[in-house]
Amino acid sequence: MNVSILVGSQWGDEGKGKIVDILSDRYDIVARYQGGANAGHTIQIGDKQYILHLVPSGILRENVQCVIGNGVVIDPHALMEEIEFIHSNGMDTKGRLFISQNAHLIMPYHKLLDNIQESGEKKIGTTGRGIGPCYIDKYARKGIRIVDLLNRKSLEEKIRVNLEEKNNILRKVYNHEELDVEKIIKEYTEFDEKIDQYITDVPTFLNNAIHEGKSILFEGAQGALLDVDHGTYPYVTSSNPTSGGACIGTGVPPTKITSIIGIVKAYTTRVGLGPFPTELLDEDGENLRDWGAEYGATTGRPRRCGWYDAFLVNYSRLINGIERVALTKLDVLSKFKEIKVCVGYEHNGKMLKYFPTDLIRLNEAKPIFEILPGWQKDITGVQNYDDLPSETKNYLGFISEKSGFEISIISVGPKRSQTIEI
Ligand code: GDP
Ligand code: IMO
Ligand code: MG
Repeated sequence: MNVSILVGSQWGDEGKGKIVDILSDRYDIVARYQGGANAGHTIQIGDKQYILHLVPSGILRENVQCVIGNGVVIDPHALMEEIEFIHSNGMDTKGRLFISQNAHLIMPYHKLLDNIQESGEKKIGTTGRGIGPCYIDKYARKGIRIVDLLNRKSLEEKIRVNLEEKNNILRKVYNHEELDVEKIIKEYTEFDEKIDQYITDVPTFLNNAIHEGKSILFEGAQGALLDVDHGTYPYVTSSNPTSGGACIGTGVPPTKITSIIGIVKAYTTRVGLGPFPTELLDEDGENLRDWGAEYGATTGRPRRCGWYDAFLVNYSRLINGIERVALTKLDVLSKFKEIKVCVGYEHNGKMLKYFPTDLIRLNEAKPIFEILPGWQKDITGVQNYDDLPSETKNYLGFISEKSGFEISIISVGPKRSQTIEI
Protein backbone atom coordinates (compact mmCIF):
# COMPACT_ATOMS: atom_id res chain seq x y z
CA MET A 1 0.00 0.00 0.00
CA ASN A 2 1.39 3.39 -0.97
CA VAL A 3 -0.68 6.36 0.14
CA SER A 4 1.54 9.43 0.19
CA ILE A 5 0.97 13.07 0.93
CA LEU A 6 3.06 15.64 -0.93
CA VAL A 7 3.21 19.02 0.78
CA GLY A 8 4.70 22.42 0.05
CA SER A 9 7.11 23.12 2.90
CA GLN A 10 7.48 26.89 2.66
CA TRP A 11 5.14 29.64 1.34
CA GLY A 12 4.02 27.83 -1.81
CA ASP A 13 5.48 27.60 -5.33
CA GLU A 14 8.13 25.11 -4.24
CA GLY A 15 7.75 23.17 -7.49
CA LYS A 16 4.99 20.79 -6.36
CA GLY A 17 3.59 20.54 -9.90
CA LYS A 18 6.87 19.31 -11.34
CA ILE A 19 7.45 16.74 -8.60
CA VAL A 20 3.84 15.44 -8.67
CA ASP A 21 4.29 14.99 -12.42
CA ILE A 22 7.50 13.01 -11.86
CA LEU A 23 6.05 10.85 -9.09
CA SER A 24 2.57 10.31 -10.57
CA ASP A 25 4.08 7.84 -12.98
CA ARG A 26 4.19 5.49 -9.96
CA TYR A 27 0.69 6.15 -8.60
CA ASP A 28 -2.80 5.08 -9.67
CA ILE A 29 -4.56 8.16 -8.29
CA VAL A 30 -3.55 11.78 -7.60
CA ALA A 31 -5.89 13.80 -5.35
CA ARG A 32 -6.14 17.48 -4.40
CA TYR A 33 -7.43 18.04 -0.85
CA GLN A 34 -7.58 21.80 -0.21
CA GLY A 35 -7.32 25.24 -1.73
CA GLY A 36 -8.74 26.13 -5.10
CA ALA A 37 -7.73 28.01 -8.22
CA ASN A 38 -5.41 30.15 -6.11
CA ALA A 39 -2.88 27.39 -6.79
CA GLY A 40 -0.72 27.46 -9.90
CA HIS A 41 1.19 24.23 -10.49
CA THR A 42 3.58 24.24 -13.42
CA ILE A 43 4.64 21.16 -15.35
CA GLN A 44 7.04 21.34 -18.22
CA ILE A 45 7.03 18.51 -20.71
CA GLY A 46 9.60 19.03 -23.43
CA ASP A 47 9.20 22.64 -24.47
CA LYS A 48 5.53 22.82 -23.51
CA GLN A 49 4.47 24.35 -20.23
CA TYR A 50 1.20 23.41 -18.50
CA ILE A 51 -0.16 25.42 -15.56
CA LEU A 52 -2.89 23.70 -13.58
CA HIS A 53 -4.97 25.44 -10.91
CA LEU A 54 -7.63 22.94 -9.83
CA VAL A 55 -7.19 19.62 -11.57
CA PRO A 56 -4.41 17.48 -10.04
CA SER A 57 -1.10 17.50 -11.93
CA GLY A 58 -1.47 13.72 -12.45
CA ILE A 59 -3.91 14.43 -15.31
CA LEU A 60 -0.94 14.70 -17.66
CA ARG A 61 -0.21 10.97 -17.21
CA GLU A 62 -2.89 9.07 -19.08
CA ASN A 63 -3.02 6.07 -16.74
CA VAL A 64 -3.59 8.19 -13.65
CA GLN A 65 -7.03 8.95 -12.21
CA CYS A 66 -7.49 12.36 -10.60
CA VAL A 67 -9.63 13.39 -7.67
CA ILE A 68 -10.75 16.77 -6.37
CA GLY A 69 -11.65 16.23 -2.71
CA ASN A 70 -14.25 17.81 -0.45
CA GLY A 71 -11.66 20.18 1.04
CA VAL A 72 -11.17 21.97 -2.28
CA VAL A 73 -13.22 25.06 -3.17
CA ILE A 74 -14.26 24.93 -6.81
CA ASP A 75 -14.80 27.85 -9.12
CA PRO A 76 -16.86 26.21 -11.89
CA HIS A 77 -15.63 28.75 -14.47
CA ALA A 78 -12.01 27.94 -13.65
CA LEU A 79 -12.80 24.21 -13.65
CA MET A 80 -14.52 24.22 -17.05
CA GLU A 81 -11.74 26.33 -18.52
CA GLU A 82 -9.16 23.88 -17.23
CA ILE A 83 -11.06 20.83 -18.48
CA GLU A 84 -11.27 22.44 -21.93
CA PHE A 85 -7.54 23.22 -21.78
CA ILE A 86 -6.82 19.56 -20.96
CA HIS A 87 -9.05 18.34 -23.82
CA SER A 88 -7.50 20.80 -26.27
CA ASN A 89 -4.13 19.27 -25.44
CA GLY A 90 -5.36 15.86 -26.48
CA MET A 91 -5.98 14.43 -23.01
CA ASP A 92 -9.21 12.95 -21.72
CA THR A 93 -11.01 13.59 -18.43
CA LYS A 94 -13.85 11.08 -18.89
CA GLY A 95 -13.47 8.29 -16.35
CA ARG A 96 -10.29 10.00 -15.14
CA LEU A 97 -11.57 12.96 -13.15
CA PHE A 98 -13.64 12.55 -9.99
CA ILE A 99 -15.04 15.50 -8.06
CA SER A 100 -16.35 15.28 -4.52
CA GLN A 101 -20.03 15.96 -4.05
CA ASN A 102 -19.15 17.77 -0.82
CA ALA A 103 -16.71 20.28 -2.29
CA HIS A 104 -17.88 23.87 -1.95
CA LEU A 105 -18.53 26.12 -4.92
CA ILE A 106 -16.95 29.51 -5.34
CA MET A 107 -19.75 31.92 -6.20
CA PRO A 108 -19.45 35.29 -8.01
CA TYR A 109 -19.96 37.11 -4.70
CA HIS A 110 -16.94 35.32 -3.19
CA LYS A 111 -14.64 36.66 -5.88
CA LEU A 112 -16.20 40.11 -5.68
CA LEU A 113 -15.89 40.29 -1.89
CA ASP A 114 -12.30 39.02 -2.02
CA ASN A 115 -11.37 41.79 -4.45
CA ILE A 116 -13.31 44.50 -2.62
CA GLN A 117 -11.60 43.58 0.65
CA GLU A 118 -8.19 43.55 -1.02
CA SER A 119 -8.77 47.04 -2.37
CA GLY A 120 -9.32 48.33 1.17
CA GLU A 121 -6.90 49.13 3.99
CA LYS A 122 -6.42 45.61 5.36
CA LYS A 123 -4.74 43.67 2.61
CA ILE A 124 -3.41 40.11 2.65
CA GLY A 125 -2.26 40.13 -0.96
CA THR A 126 -4.65 37.33 -1.94
CA THR A 127 -4.92 35.88 -5.42
CA GLY A 128 -8.41 37.39 -5.73
CA ARG A 129 -9.94 34.02 -6.55
CA GLY A 130 -12.63 34.18 -3.86
CA ILE A 131 -10.92 31.57 -1.67
CA GLY A 132 -11.28 33.26 1.75
CA PRO A 133 -14.95 34.30 1.37
CA CYS A 134 -15.87 30.80 0.13
CA TYR A 135 -14.29 29.11 3.17
CA ILE A 136 -16.00 31.68 5.41
CA ASP A 137 -19.39 30.55 4.06
CA LYS A 138 -18.37 26.89 4.40
CA TYR A 139 -17.63 27.29 8.10
CA ALA A 140 -20.65 29.57 8.60
CA ARG A 141 -22.70 26.66 7.15
CA LYS A 142 -24.07 28.80 4.35
CA GLY A 143 -22.01 27.33 1.54
CA ILE A 144 -23.29 25.88 -1.72
CA ARG A 145 -21.76 22.55 -2.61
CA ILE A 146 -21.27 20.48 -5.75
CA VAL A 147 -24.09 18.17 -4.57
CA ASP A 148 -26.48 21.14 -4.64
CA LEU A 149 -26.07 21.32 -8.41
CA LEU A 150 -28.00 18.06 -8.60
CA ASN A 151 -31.20 19.55 -7.17
CA ARG A 152 -32.32 22.63 -9.06
CA LYS A 153 -35.00 23.71 -6.60
CA SER A 154 -32.74 23.64 -3.59
CA LEU A 155 -29.85 25.19 -5.57
CA GLU A 156 -32.07 28.08 -6.58
CA GLU A 157 -33.27 28.59 -3.03
CA LYS A 158 -29.74 28.52 -1.61
CA ILE A 159 -28.53 31.05 -4.17
CA ARG A 160 -31.49 33.34 -3.37
CA VAL A 161 -30.91 33.19 0.40
CA ASN A 162 -27.16 33.80 0.03
CA LEU A 163 -27.63 36.64 -2.41
CA GLU A 164 -30.09 38.42 -0.19
CA GLU A 165 -27.43 38.58 2.50
CA LYS A 166 -24.51 39.31 0.15
CA ASN A 167 -26.39 42.05 -1.72
CA ASN A 168 -27.20 43.65 1.61
CA ILE A 169 -23.51 43.63 2.53
CA LEU A 170 -22.47 44.90 -0.91
CA ARG A 171 -24.94 47.78 -0.73
CA LYS A 172 -24.71 48.76 2.93
CA VAL A 173 -21.10 48.04 3.80
CA TYR A 174 -19.30 48.60 0.51
CA ASN A 175 -21.68 50.93 -1.32
CA HIS A 176 -21.41 48.56 -4.28
CA GLU A 177 -24.10 47.69 -6.78
CA GLU A 178 -26.07 44.49 -6.19
CA LEU A 179 -25.50 41.26 -8.09
CA ASP A 180 -28.18 39.88 -10.41
CA VAL A 181 -29.77 36.83 -8.73
CA GLU A 182 -31.48 35.45 -11.84
CA LYS A 183 -28.24 35.61 -13.83
CA ILE A 184 -26.35 33.65 -11.19
CA ILE A 185 -29.10 31.03 -10.90
CA LYS A 186 -29.00 30.51 -14.68
CA GLU A 187 -25.22 30.34 -14.73
CA TYR A 188 -24.98 27.74 -11.96
CA THR A 189 -27.86 25.54 -13.19
CA GLU A 190 -26.03 25.32 -16.52
CA PHE A 191 -22.88 24.07 -14.77
CA ASP A 192 -24.84 21.09 -13.54
CA GLU A 193 -24.95 19.50 -17.02
CA LYS A 194 -21.23 19.97 -17.48
CA ILE A 195 -20.07 18.80 -14.06
CA ASP A 196 -22.59 15.98 -13.52
CA GLN A 197 -20.43 13.25 -15.05
CA TYR A 198 -17.56 13.95 -12.64
CA ILE A 199 -19.51 14.03 -9.35
CA THR A 200 -18.36 11.22 -7.06
CA ASP A 201 -18.62 9.93 -3.50
CA VAL A 202 -14.89 10.54 -2.99
CA PRO A 203 -14.36 8.91 0.47
CA THR A 204 -15.90 5.67 -0.85
CA PHE A 205 -13.97 5.89 -4.13
CA LEU A 206 -10.60 6.44 -2.42
CA ASN A 207 -11.07 3.97 0.43
CA ASN A 208 -12.20 1.28 -2.03
CA ALA A 209 -9.14 2.01 -4.15
CA ILE A 210 -6.89 1.56 -1.10
CA HIS A 211 -8.69 -1.68 -0.26
CA GLU A 212 -7.95 -2.90 -3.80
CA GLY A 213 -4.25 -2.15 -3.29
CA LYS A 214 -4.12 0.96 -5.45
CA SER A 215 -1.67 3.74 -4.67
CA ILE A 216 -2.63 7.35 -4.03
CA LEU A 217 -0.63 10.57 -4.07
CA PHE A 218 -2.21 13.56 -2.33
CA GLU A 219 -1.16 16.80 -4.01
CA GLY A 220 -1.00 19.67 -1.54
CA ALA A 221 -1.49 23.19 -2.81
CA GLN A 222 0.09 26.31 -1.24
CA GLY A 223 2.56 25.59 1.57
CA ALA A 224 2.81 24.91 5.30
CA LEU A 225 3.50 28.53 6.22
CA LEU A 226 0.29 29.56 4.43
CA ASP A 227 -1.75 27.13 6.57
CA VAL A 228 -4.62 28.93 8.31
CA ASP A 229 -3.76 27.20 11.62
CA HIS A 230 0.00 26.70 11.46
CA GLY A 231 1.15 29.48 9.15
CA THR A 232 2.00 33.14 9.50
CA TYR A 233 -1.56 34.16 10.36
CA PRO A 234 -3.29 36.34 9.20
CA TYR A 235 -1.04 36.35 6.13
CA VAL A 236 -2.12 32.87 5.13
CA THR A 237 -4.63 31.17 2.89
CA SER A 238 -7.95 29.93 4.30
CA SER A 239 -7.33 26.17 4.21
CA ASN A 240 -4.96 23.55 5.66
CA PRO A 241 -2.20 22.77 3.15
CA THR A 242 -0.30 20.82 5.85
CA SER A 243 -0.39 17.03 5.68
CA GLY A 244 -3.25 16.73 8.20
CA GLY A 245 -5.48 18.51 5.71
CA ALA A 246 -5.28 15.55 3.31
CA CYS A 247 -7.40 13.32 5.56
CA ILE A 248 -10.02 15.97 6.30
CA GLY A 249 -10.07 17.09 2.70
CA THR A 250 -10.71 13.66 1.14
CA GLY A 251 -12.14 11.28 3.74
CA VAL A 252 -9.13 8.97 3.84
CA PRO A 253 -8.28 8.19 7.48
CA PRO A 254 -4.80 8.91 8.97
CA THR A 255 -4.21 5.17 9.50
CA LYS A 256 -4.02 4.71 5.73
CA ILE A 257 -1.24 7.25 5.13
CA THR A 258 2.09 5.56 4.48
CA SER A 259 4.47 8.44 3.73
CA ILE A 260 4.83 12.19 3.68
CA ILE A 261 6.97 13.93 1.10
CA GLY A 262 8.02 17.55 1.53
CA ILE A 263 8.74 19.78 -1.46
CA VAL A 264 11.44 22.23 -0.47
CA LYS A 265 12.83 25.03 -2.63
CA ALA A 266 16.60 25.55 -2.35
CA TYR A 267 15.89 29.16 -1.30
CA THR A 268 12.71 30.92 -0.13
CA THR A 269 9.94 32.80 -1.93
CA ARG A 270 6.63 34.29 -0.96
CA VAL A 271 3.83 36.01 -2.92
CA GLY A 272 1.57 38.50 -1.20
CA LEU A 273 2.06 40.30 2.09
CA GLY A 274 3.32 39.08 5.46
CA PRO A 275 6.52 38.45 7.37
CA PHE A 276 9.51 36.96 5.57
CA PRO A 277 12.62 37.05 7.79
CA THR A 278 15.17 35.98 5.13
CA GLU A 279 13.78 38.23 2.39
CA LEU A 280 16.42 39.94 0.23
CA LEU A 281 15.59 43.43 -0.91
CA ASP A 282 18.90 43.88 -2.71
CA GLU A 283 20.61 42.67 -5.87
CA ASP A 284 20.81 39.09 -4.56
CA GLY A 285 17.02 39.05 -4.24
CA GLU A 286 16.61 40.42 -7.77
CA ASN A 287 19.02 37.79 -9.07
CA LEU A 288 17.05 35.00 -7.39
CA ARG A 289 13.86 36.35 -9.02
CA ASP A 290 15.51 36.61 -12.45
CA TRP A 291 17.41 33.34 -12.41
CA GLY A 292 14.51 31.42 -10.83
CA ALA A 293 11.84 33.12 -13.02
CA GLU A 294 9.99 33.87 -9.80
CA TYR A 295 6.70 35.27 -11.07
CA GLY A 296 3.34 33.92 -9.87
CA ALA A 297 1.87 31.10 -11.97
CA THR A 298 -1.65 32.30 -11.10
CA THR A 299 -1.42 36.08 -10.90
CA GLY A 300 1.90 36.85 -12.60
CA ARG A 301 3.01 38.89 -9.56
CA PRO A 302 6.76 39.07 -8.90
CA ARG A 303 7.58 36.73 -6.01
CA ARG A 304 9.51 38.05 -3.03
CA CYS A 305 12.80 36.14 -2.77
CA GLY A 306 15.24 35.33 0.03
CA TRP A 307 17.83 32.86 1.30
CA TYR A 308 16.99 29.36 2.46
CA ASP A 309 15.51 29.32 5.94
CA ALA A 310 16.43 26.08 7.73
CA PHE A 311 14.68 27.19 10.93
CA LEU A 312 11.41 27.61 9.03
CA VAL A 313 11.72 24.32 7.12
CA ASN A 314 12.55 22.48 10.33
CA TYR A 315 9.24 23.75 11.76
CA SER A 316 7.50 22.70 8.58
CA ARG A 317 9.03 19.21 8.83
CA LEU A 318 7.71 18.94 12.38
CA ILE A 319 4.10 19.95 11.72
CA ASN A 320 3.84 17.95 8.48
CA GLY A 321 5.74 14.84 9.58
CA ILE A 322 7.96 15.08 6.51
CA GLU A 323 10.17 12.04 6.08
CA ARG A 324 11.73 12.64 2.70
CA VAL A 325 12.26 15.70 0.64
CA ALA A 326 12.34 16.65 -3.01
CA LEU A 327 14.65 19.67 -3.17
CA THR A 328 13.85 21.92 -6.10
CA LYS A 329 15.42 24.79 -8.05
CA LEU A 330 18.96 24.01 -6.87
CA ASP A 331 20.24 25.22 -10.26
CA VAL A 332 19.00 28.75 -9.49
CA LEU A 333 21.76 29.15 -6.87
CA SER A 334 24.53 28.19 -9.30
CA LYS A 335 25.82 31.69 -10.07
CA PHE A 336 26.26 32.89 -6.48
CA LYS A 337 29.80 33.15 -5.15
CA GLU A 338 28.52 32.75 -1.59
CA ILE A 339 25.20 31.39 -0.40
CA LYS A 340 23.62 32.22 2.94
CA VAL A 341 21.49 29.87 5.00
CA CYS A 342 19.41 30.98 7.97
CA VAL A 343 20.02 28.63 10.91
CA GLY A 344 17.89 30.34 13.57
CA TYR A 345 16.23 33.54 14.72
CA GLU A 346 17.44 35.92 17.40
CA HIS A 347 14.82 37.78 19.38
CA ASN A 348 15.52 40.24 22.22
CA GLY A 349 19.13 39.07 22.37
CA LYS A 350 18.24 35.36 22.64
CA MET A 351 18.05 32.58 20.09
CA LEU A 352 14.47 31.38 19.68
CA LYS A 353 13.95 27.67 20.36
CA TYR A 354 10.83 27.31 18.25
CA PHE A 355 9.62 28.96 15.07
CA PRO A 356 7.33 31.85 16.10
CA THR A 357 3.98 32.03 14.31
CA ASP A 358 2.86 35.28 15.90
CA LEU A 359 3.37 38.39 13.84
CA ILE A 360 5.05 40.41 16.59
CA ARG A 361 7.95 38.05 17.19
CA LEU A 362 8.23 37.16 13.50
CA ASN A 363 8.54 40.80 12.53
CA GLU A 364 11.06 41.47 15.28
CA ALA A 365 13.11 38.30 14.83
CA LYS A 366 16.53 38.66 13.27
CA PRO A 367 17.65 35.76 11.07
CA ILE A 368 21.10 34.37 11.87
CA PHE A 369 22.99 33.26 8.77
CA GLU A 370 25.86 30.97 8.00
CA ILE A 371 27.75 31.54 4.78
CA LEU A 372 28.57 28.66 2.45
CA PRO A 373 30.73 28.71 -0.67
CA GLY A 374 28.85 28.68 -3.97
CA TRP A 375 29.74 26.25 -6.78
CA GLN A 376 29.53 28.63 -9.76
CA LYS A 377 29.06 25.79 -12.24
CA ASP A 378 26.08 24.93 -14.42
CA ILE A 379 24.35 21.89 -12.89
CA THR A 380 21.25 21.81 -15.11
CA GLY A 381 22.55 18.79 -17.03
CA VAL A 382 23.72 16.73 -14.03
CA GLN A 383 21.97 13.34 -13.85
CA ASN A 384 23.71 11.70 -10.89
CA TYR A 385 24.26 12.89 -7.35
CA ASP A 386 27.93 11.89 -7.51
CA ASP A 387 28.49 14.24 -10.44
CA LEU A 388 27.38 17.34 -8.52
CA PRO A 389 30.19 19.77 -7.55
CA SER A 390 31.54 19.22 -4.03
CA GLU A 391 30.28 22.67 -2.91
CA THR A 392 26.77 21.71 -4.07
CA LYS A 393 26.92 18.48 -2.04
CA ASN A 394 28.20 20.50 0.88
CA TYR A 395 25.19 22.86 0.58
CA LEU A 396 22.77 19.91 0.39
CA GLY A 397 24.37 18.24 3.40
CA PHE A 398 24.25 21.46 5.40
CA ILE A 399 20.60 22.31 4.76
CA SER A 400 19.41 18.75 5.30
CA GLU A 401 21.25 18.56 8.61
CA LYS A 402 19.94 21.95 9.77
CA SER A 403 16.37 21.19 8.70
CA GLY A 404 16.45 17.57 9.89
CA PHE A 405 15.44 15.75 6.71
CA GLU A 406 16.80 13.43 4.05
CA ILE A 407 16.78 14.44 0.41
CA SER A 408 15.60 11.76 -2.02
CA ILE A 409 15.00 13.85 -5.14
CA ILE A 410 16.94 16.86 -6.43
CA SER A 411 15.53 19.05 -9.17
CA VAL A 412 18.01 21.01 -11.29
CA GLY A 413 15.65 22.49 -13.88
CA PRO A 414 11.95 22.65 -14.79
CA LYS A 415 11.99 19.67 -17.17
CA ARG A 416 11.21 16.06 -16.32
CA SER A 417 14.71 15.04 -17.36
CA GLN A 418 16.31 17.55 -14.96
CA THR A 419 15.70 15.38 -11.94
CA ILE A 420 18.20 13.43 -9.82
CA GLU A 421 16.92 10.57 -7.68
CA ILE A 422 19.11 9.48 -4.81
P1 GDP B 1 4.10 24.91 -7.37
O1 GDP B 1 3.00 25.89 -7.13
O2 GDP B 1 4.71 24.42 -6.11
O3 GDP B 1 3.69 23.79 -8.29
O4 GDP B 1 5.25 25.71 -8.12
P2 GDP B 1 5.06 26.72 -9.37
O5 GDP B 1 4.75 25.94 -10.58
O6 GDP B 1 4.13 27.82 -9.00
O7 GDP B 1 6.50 27.38 -9.43
C1 GDP B 1 7.64 26.62 -9.65
C2 GDP B 1 8.32 27.15 -10.93
O8 GDP B 1 9.65 26.67 -10.98
C3 GDP B 1 7.67 26.67 -12.22
O9 GDP B 1 7.83 27.64 -13.20
C4 GDP B 1 8.48 25.42 -12.56
O10 GDP B 1 8.48 25.13 -13.96
C5 GDP B 1 9.85 25.83 -12.11
N1 GDP B 1 10.71 24.74 -11.63
C6 GDP B 1 10.37 23.61 -10.96
N2 GDP B 1 11.49 22.93 -10.59
C7 GDP B 1 12.54 23.66 -11.03
C8 GDP B 1 13.96 23.50 -10.94
O11 GDP B 1 14.48 22.57 -10.34
N3 GDP B 1 14.73 24.48 -11.51
C9 GDP B 1 14.20 25.56 -12.16
N4 GDP B 1 15.03 26.45 -12.67
N5 GDP B 1 12.87 25.72 -12.27
C10 GDP B 1 12.04 24.80 -11.70
P1 IMO C 1 0.65 27.10 -5.03
O1 IMO C 1 -0.23 25.88 -4.86
C1 IMO C 1 2.00 30.89 -3.35
C2 IMO C 1 -0.97 33.23 -1.13
C3 IMO C 1 -1.42 34.55 -1.72
C4 IMO C 1 -1.66 35.33 -0.45
C5 IMO C 1 -2.25 34.27 0.50
C6 IMO C 1 -3.76 34.28 0.55
O2 IMO C 1 0.86 27.49 -6.45
O3 IMO C 1 1.89 26.95 -4.24
P2 IMO C 1 -5.63 33.42 -1.14
O4 IMO C 1 -5.94 33.82 -2.55
O5 IMO C 1 -5.30 31.98 -0.97
O6 IMO C 1 -6.68 33.87 -0.16
O7 IMO C 1 -4.31 34.27 -0.76
O8 IMO C 1 -1.79 33.02 0.00
N1 IMO C 1 -1.13 32.05 -2.03
C7 IMO C 1 -0.11 31.43 -2.64
N2 IMO C 1 1.21 31.73 -2.65
N3 IMO C 1 1.54 29.78 -3.97
C8 IMO C 1 0.22 29.45 -3.94
O9 IMO C 1 -0.25 28.30 -4.42
C9 IMO C 1 -0.67 30.32 -3.28
N4 IMO C 1 -2.01 30.32 -3.07
C10 IMO C 1 -2.27 31.37 -2.29
O10 IMO C 1 -0.43 35.13 -2.53
O11 IMO C 1 -0.43 35.74 0.10
MG1 MG D 1 2.45 27.81 -7.71
